[in-house]
Amino acid sequence: MKVQVCIIGGGPSGLLLSQLLHLQGINTIVLERHTRDHVLGRIRAGVLEHGFATLMREAQCGERMDREGEIHHGFLIAHDGGRLDRVDLRKHSGGNSVMVYGQTELTRDLYEGRERSGAKTVFEAEDVAPRDLTSDRPYVTYRQKDEPFRIDCEFVVGADGFHGVSRRSIPKSELREYERVYPFGWLGVLSRTQPVSPELIYVSHERGFALCSLRSKVLSRYYIQVPLAYRVDDWSDEAFWEELVRRLPEDVAARLITGPSIEKSIAPLRSFVAEPMRHGRLFLAGDAAHIVPPTGAKGLNTAGSDIYYLYHAILAHYRRGDDAGLEDYSRRALARVWKAQRFSWWMTTMLHRFPANSPYEDRLQATELAYLFSSETALGSLAANYVGLPF
Ligand code: FAD
Ligand code: DHB
Repeated sequence: MKVQVCIIGGGPSGLLLSQLLHLQGINTIVLERHTRDHVLGRIRAGVLEHGFATLMREAQCGERMDREGEIHHGFLIAHDGGRLDRVDLRKHSGGNSVMVYGQTELTRDLYEGRERSGAKTVFEAEDVAPRDLTSDRPYVTYRQKDEPFRIDCEFVVGADGFHGVSRRSIPKSELREYERVYPFGWLGVLSRTQPVSPELIYVSHERGFALCSLRSKVLSRYYIQVPLAYRVDDWSDEAFWEELVRRLPEDVAARLITGPSIEKSIAPLRSFVAEPMRHGRLFLAGDAAHIVPPTGAKGLNTAGSDIYYLYHAILAHYRRGDDAGLEDYSRRALARVWKAQRFSWWMTTMLHRFPANSPYEDRLQATELAYLFSSETALGSLAANYVGLPF
C-alpha cells in the first residue's frame, strides 16, 4: 500500500494530524498498536488551550466540544494552611480562557470524524517499524494477526507517545535527550459525582499536592500526590477520599461529594525532551518527543502546537513545493516545547511537597505563592502560560 504520510500512533496527536491532512486531500494512514476501546479507556488530559480547540474545529471535529465543553475563566489555588486565592485568567491574560473537555471525548470525536470522512486507521498493528528514513522512499512495516504489511510513503510521523517505536528508531548518536524524573506520582480518580467546585482547585498542602478537576457537571476528576513506592491497588476508594479531604481547605472538604471510582490510576511525573524532532523523513510529534509533569495541563496542548506546525509544513510541501516549514519544524516546535517545559516545571515545583527539601527551600516555595498573589505581573505571567502561549 502507498500513502503520502504514514502516521504511527492513534492518540490525539496522530488522529488530529491525519484528520487535518485528510480534509486537504492529503492521503494518510494511522497505525495504532491497541484497539479503539483501549485508546478510549485512558483517562488523561482535561484542560484545552484555545489553540487546541481551534484545531479541533478546523479538523471538523469540534462540534460536541463546543456544545459540551466548559469555558473556564479562572481557577483557584489553595495554599498557606487553607487560604483560597483565585487566578482570574480573563483579567490577567487580556480576555482569554481555557476549555474543560476530556481527552477521552476529544479522541472519540476524532475517531468518529475519521469514520465519517473515510480516513484509514489500522488497529492492533504489531511490530510497527519505520524504515529507510533518511532515503526519499521511507516505508513502514507492521503485522496484523500474524500477516505482514508494508506501507510505502513520502513522510513518516511518529505520534506514538513516550513508549513508542518512532523515537527509538532514531540513531542514539543523532538524538539528545533531556530528562527529570520527580520522586512522586499523581493518583487520579474519576467519579460520577458533582464536582466540589465549578472551577479547578490546585492545592499546595504539607501532606502533598492535590487537584480538584472535572469533566462535566456530574463527572469529577481528582488527583493527589503520592510517593512512587505506592501501587494503585494500595489505595481503596475510601483511603483516596480520606487523604484528599485532609489536603483540602475545610469549607471545600465539607462540600466534597464522594462516590465509587470509575477509574483509578497512578501517573509518574516526568519532564523529558528529545532533540531534534526530525530524522530524515521522520517527524516526531507530541509525547513521542516530549513529556511534561501534568501540573500545568500542557502535555496535550504542546502536542497540539507540534501538530499545528507540522500540518502547515506538510501542506506547504504538497501545495507549493515549499519545504521551509519542514526544514524549520524541529526548531519551531522545540522553541514552544521548552516554554511549556519551563512552565510545567515551575507549577510542579511551586505546588508539590518535595520530601528532600530543606526548611529553607520550603520557605522559598511558600514565598513563591505569596509573591504570586501579591503581584499583577506574576499573575499575568501565570495566566499567559496557562491559557497558552501563541503558536
Ligand atoms: P498518546 O496519547 O500517548 O498516544 C500515542 C498512541 O500511540 C497511543 O494510542 C499508543 O497506543 C500508540 N502507540 C504506542 N506505541 C506504538 C507502536 N509501537 N505502534 C503503534 N502505535 C503505538 N495534557 C494537557 O494538555 N492537559 C491536561 O490537563 C493533561 N492532564 C493529564 C493528566 C494525566 C493524569 C496524564 C497522564 C496526562 C495528562 N496530560 C495533559 C498529557 C496528555 O494526556 C498527553 O500529552 C497526550 O496524551 C499526548 O498525546 P499523543 O497523541 O502525543 O500521545
Ligand atoms: C487535569 C489534569 C491536569 O494536569 C491539570 O493541570 C488540570 C486538569 C484533569 O485531568 O482534569
